[in-house]
This record gives sequence, structure tokens and C-alpha cells, in this order.
Amino acid sequence: MTALGAPAPAAQAGASSAGHLVVTGTSKRFGAAVVLEDLSLSVAKGEFVSLLGPSGCGKTTLLRCIAGLLRPDAGRITVAGQDITALPAHRRNVGVVFQNYALFPHLTVAENIGFGLRAQGVSRAEAAPRVAEALALVRMGEHADKPVTSLSGGQQQRVAVARALVVRPSLLLLDEPFSALDRKLRETMQVELKHLLREVGITAIFVTHDQEEALVVSDRIAVMNSGRIEQLADPATLYGRPVSLYVLDFVGQSTRLAGRIVAVEDGVVTVETSLGPVRAPGRFAPGSRVAVAVRPEAVTLGEGVAGANRVSARVSEISFLGSRTQLHLDLPAEGEDRGVVELPRLPEGVQPGSRVTLAFREADTMVFPA
Ligand SMILES: Nc1ncnc2c1ncn2[C@@H]1O[C@H](COP(=O)(O)OP(=O)(O)O)[C@@H](O)[C@H]1O
Ligand SMILES: [Mg+2]
Repeated sequence: MTALGAPAPAAQAGASSAGHLVVTGTSKRFGAAVVLEDLSLSVAKGEFVSLLGPSGCGKTTLLRCIAGLLRPDAGRITVAGQDITALPAHRRNVGVVFQNYALFPHLTVAENIGFGLRAQGVSRAEAAPRVAEALALVRMGEHADKPVTSLSGGQQQRVAVARALVVRPSLLLLDEPFSALDRKLRETMQVELKHLLREVGITAIFVTHDQEEALVVSDRIAVMNSGRIEQLADPATLYGRPVSLYVLDFVGQSTRLAGRIVAVEDGVVTVETSLGPVRAPGRFAPGSRVAVAVRPEAVTLGEGVAGANRVSARVSEISFLGSRTQLHLDLPAEGEDRGVVELPRLPEGVQPGSRVTLAFREADTMVFPA
């Protein structure tokens, strides 16, 4: 059953392939600063999409344009086929959850959640069961009559989510909702939110600067760079097939070596790096400056499989991370090279200063224009 009467996810509803939320050619500048640049985004019904990028890249600005709190200079925004670009915020049927909860401190939990319903003219009698349902959804039923100020941060954020959902918005927007919470609680809330939104089947946009958080919660992630979307993809594609060095570096870690193409053959290039030649699938002209990269878990110590890339490097530091161990490599200081290898456990005898052979498959090696 779908909670709160919200629409079912796209897969069940057989929704058309046109997005539920469609942002087209949207631009926004503040004075001379271009903060959103001709940005387009399409989100399917029931989909959970994150906007991920460093502070200042325009995530909140885009969210505010969608919420109607900010008017874009150019572009069009539609929800369920309706052009909402010129609609005021209160007529958009969009729920928003902010980082700082923005709850009313003088009201109880239930009053906070019921506030929006009352503002919509829903009667007290009709509001009560909906408030109770929203509270149950975020597992806060027993706290209904408490003042919100008596709640912990995590509980307040649950109330904020319930308050946004109770009005049955056609779109839920969340702006770094967990950034004020400590790490352990944040991780719990991420999984809880993902589960809740799937249950409700609502379309949601989630802003974060935390790549791990984006990987955990999202169906798809839009990686933003200076007011543009650099890549929009599911988490596995984003991690495994980043389209640029920017995305490679923003999502996950890697060993990354600058170099020059020295041979090209059958869609495989050979790159001369500071650690020697490395082969990768790719199409570049001989002489091109590139960077090759491999994800930490794609590297093994020793000879590896037949035909694997092999380089030798010195271990500079070892980080024990519990379920895995990271080796940091000593690389020539100049340039953008960096080296991280992850192993399930540290092999006997490897310590800072050890020289090791690293093996990684050609197919796992990525190459990007420098
Ligand atoms: N109301 C505003 N007036 C002027 N500049 C703004 C305003 N809002 C945001 N900015 C600027 O726009 C840029 C993007 O901001 P924002 O969308 O908040 O980024 P993010 O949420 O990705 O950290 C920043 O450089 C910020 O200083
Ligand atoms: Mg922001």
C-alpha cells in the first residue's frame, strides 16, 4: 500500500518516459556571478535524485528555483506536465526540508506537522488522522504531544520530513537535511529516508556535498560543477564510469597518474606515466596529455592476472579502516598524481617504505584528457 496517498513509483504506475520534474535551460545570476548556467534536468516519477557538488556550485540555488523561492533568469520548470515557472511557492505543491529543520519552536510535534494542513484549510477532524499517519511513517507516533524543542536533532529532522510529506506534495526537496547530525545518526537517517521515500513513492531531490551520502540514498546523482551538471547517472555508473577527472575526483578515491599517449592500437592506448607504461581502453591521438586512473579496490599487490598493468611503487602510509586497509603511495611530488590502494587486509611484511608491485586490469583502467 502506498502511504499518504502519494503516487506510486514509476515502475508500478507505468508513467510515461517524460520526467515528472523537468528543468529546461535554467540560468540564474546574482549580479555578475553566473550561478546556474543553462541547466537542464529530468527526474522520473518516484525517482530519488541527488544534486552533489562542492559548496558554492549552485545546488541550493537550483533547489530554490524549483521550490519557487527564487525566480530563474531564464528557463522553464514543469512538474507533472504543468509549467510552474511563474507560480508562487505556496501554489507549487512542493515540500521542502531544510538543514536547520525550521520547525516552529512554540508548537508541539503534532501541531508542527498539522500546520501546513490547517493553512490549506483542512479541517481539524480530517487533519488528525493524516498527522498521525505522517508521524507513524517517521516512527515518531509516541512523541506527538511533546514540544519540538525537547527532541534530539534526529527526531526534529524526522518531524521536518513528516511535515513536508503530510500535505502530499508532488515533489519533495531536501537541502542537506542531515548535515547538522553526527556521523552515526546521519548514516541511520540516510537509510531510513531512502526506505521511507520508496515506501511513499514520492519524487525527491536531495542536495548534498557529501559523496558517500549521495551514493547511499540516490537512484541517480547529478554531479554539479560551477552551475552545470557534469554527469547525471546511477551511483555505480558514476563511480565506475566517470565522464571527467572532476567526477572521478569528486566521487570516490583513485590512483591517478598524469601521462602522455605513446601508443594507440585497437582502441587501447598506452600511457607513459611517472611509474612506467600503463594501458587502458580509449581513443586518443599519440602525444595527447592525459591522466590514467584506477579505483582503489581494482588494484591487487603482486603480479595479478595475465596481461594486467603492473607498476612498482613505494608505500608512504598505511591506514587501517577496519573492514579494509588503505595503502597510500609515494608518488613524484610534481603534478596531480595521487595513489590510493585498498585491500581487504594488509599482506604480511608490507609497511611504510615497502616497495610493492601493483597490478590492475586494463579494463579497469580509465583514461581522461588532462
Ligand atoms: N541571494 C544571493 N545573492 C548573491 N549571491 C548568492 C545568493 N545566493 C547564493 N549566492 C551565491 O551563489 C553561489 C551558489 O550558491 P548556492 O546555490 O548556495 O551553492 P551550494 O548550495 O552549492 O553551496 C555562491 O557563490 C553563493 O555565494
Ligand atoms: Mg547549499
